[in-house]
Amino acid sequence: MIKKIACIGAGYVGGPTMSVIAQKNPHIQVTVVDMNQARIAAWNDPDLANLPIYEPGLTDVVAEARGRNLFFSTEVDQAIHEADMIFISVNTPTKTYGKGKGQAADLKYIELCARQIAAVASTDKIVVEKSTLPVRTAQALKSILDNTGSGVNFHILSNPEFLAEGTAISDLHHPDRVLIGGEDDRAIQALVDIYASWVPEDRILTTNLWSSELSKLVANAFLAQRVSSINSISELCEATGANVDEVARAVGKDSRIGSKFLKASVGFGGSCFQKDILNLVYIARSYNLHEVADYWEQVILLNDHQKTRFAERIIRTMYNTVNGKHIAFLGWAFKKDTNDSRESAAIYVADHLLEEEAQIVVYDPKVPAEQIYRDLDALGTRSPEDNRRLLQVVESPSLALQDAHAVAVLTEWDEFRTYDWALVKQQMKRPAFVFDGRKLLNRKDLEVLGFQYYAIGE
Ligand code: UDX
Ligand code: UDX
Ligand code: ADP
Repeated sequence: MIKKIACIGAGYVGGPTMSVIAQKNPHIQVTVVDMNQARIAAWNDPDLANLPIYEPGLTDVVAEARGRNLFFSTEVDQAIHEADMIFISVNTPTKTYGKGKGQAADLKYIELCARQIAAVASTDKIVVEKSTLPVRTAQALKSILDNTGSGVNFHILSNPEFLAEGTAISDLHHPDRVLIGGEDDRAIQALVDIYASWVPEDRILTTNLWSSELSKLVANAFLAQRVSSINSISELCEATGANVDEVARAVGKDSRIGSKFLKASVGFGGSCFQKDILNLVYIARSYNLHEVADYWEQVILLNDHQKTRFAERIIRTMYNTVNGKHIAFLGWAFKKDTNDSRESAAIYVADHLLEEEAQIVVYDPKVPAEQIYRDLDALGTRSPEDNRRLLQVVESPSLALQDAHAVAVLTEWDEFRTYDWALVKQQMKRPAFVFDGRKLLNRKDLEVLGFQYYAIGE
């Protein structure tokens, strides 16, 4: 019986997942630790509006469990020391240096965790990989733990998280499946019992470690592949006069194909898809499976193409120059209902337009200005001063839209649909262009108002 859980990493995965585990297992004490003090302070903020992550439904879960059996702390060692089970939920970004640069996952944070656990543990522990990791990381973890620990037993489990941002709480409450990979039956059962508090047993799958690790990469690769597949067809639709939504609808009705994840867009983003596919590509190449690697790499290349294509469409339509023109960006997050902008298509589209000296004004309901500048500065395309000179972030949509030459919809936030578009039209320069990267707005309505409306895949 597990009495105490620690989770290292209070991010988009660790925070919501542990909140739900604590909510559904009031008899287990769950402590989420992070070395980022500001982040922990935000998780502990009495005002739930200040939680570091925006997720619909999250505040209710935290309100129920926090202080009862859910705790957020920076005392990493103490939490490790007390726990029977430790989740590792730290970030695993793509390497930016050395071997595998740009493709392999950077495991330094994972390794640091393993060494810290080994140094502190004085009783047996079940260590659960929650972060997405390349296949066979569990082996590396085990080796570090066994060689640097003080003789206690470590059982490693892989328990990849399939939640999507923006729907994290509902995904956690009603998962399609929970996947647990491992070698030790008792350790596996201990984790099964925790999920069985609210997940039907037939949805809890157990496999060996490697299958579990690989399944996570493959699930994300398949999902991203569907988006790139429909996006490739969106370009064909634009060239031929077919409508990509109509095609997606017709194709998705085939029960073998299914209707979900066929929404053409300006390109997928998020912390997982690109990273996991690059990882899959890297692993395939490391086994000399070049055809396999090339196949999956194409999903990324098509996604890059889609972002570039959208930016070029804007420039071409605006008489081949956007220099000095005011372009309002509606949305910066990589999808709606999240304040996360990692790998968001908006970053790359903005970068492309800024190279042409466009004047961009961004409004996003949840992403703060500092983060937007950080995203752009991280590309290193131009100086931070130039990014601030060319791109402005505003707090209200009307400030972004006033006097704009064009509007570009980058995120499918529901509120964009509700704007008074007749009024927007009056406030904009003529001709008033709308470039809809999410197929969010209604073509007929906008055309009646006199907009020049362009959408992906039409
Ligand atoms: C296909 C389409 O299914 C059908 O809708 C269309 O009208 C005509 O083309 P068909 O070629 O008769 O039908 O057979 P299908 O069952 O789709 O199989 C095609 C090939 O894919 C077969 O060689 C089959 O063995 C193979 N296949 C199918 C797999 O290897 N794995 C699978 O999971 C499914
Ligand atoms: C994804 C997986 O869905 C989740 O299971 C995994 O645990 C983490 O990675 P997430 O990145 O949060 O989740 O969001 P998701 O909803 O999958 O969207 C990813 C990107 O694809 C977004 O930019 C989204 O806008 C885009 N997308 C998705 C499309 O462009 N079209 C679609 O039809 C679906
Ligand atoms: P994810 O989307 O995978 O949850 P995030 O970047 O949102 O990723 O969260 C990962 C968190 O893990 C960050 O808040 C980071 O500070 C934390 N972290 C990374 N390494 C350690 C460590 N060794 N000890 C404690 N916290 C860590």
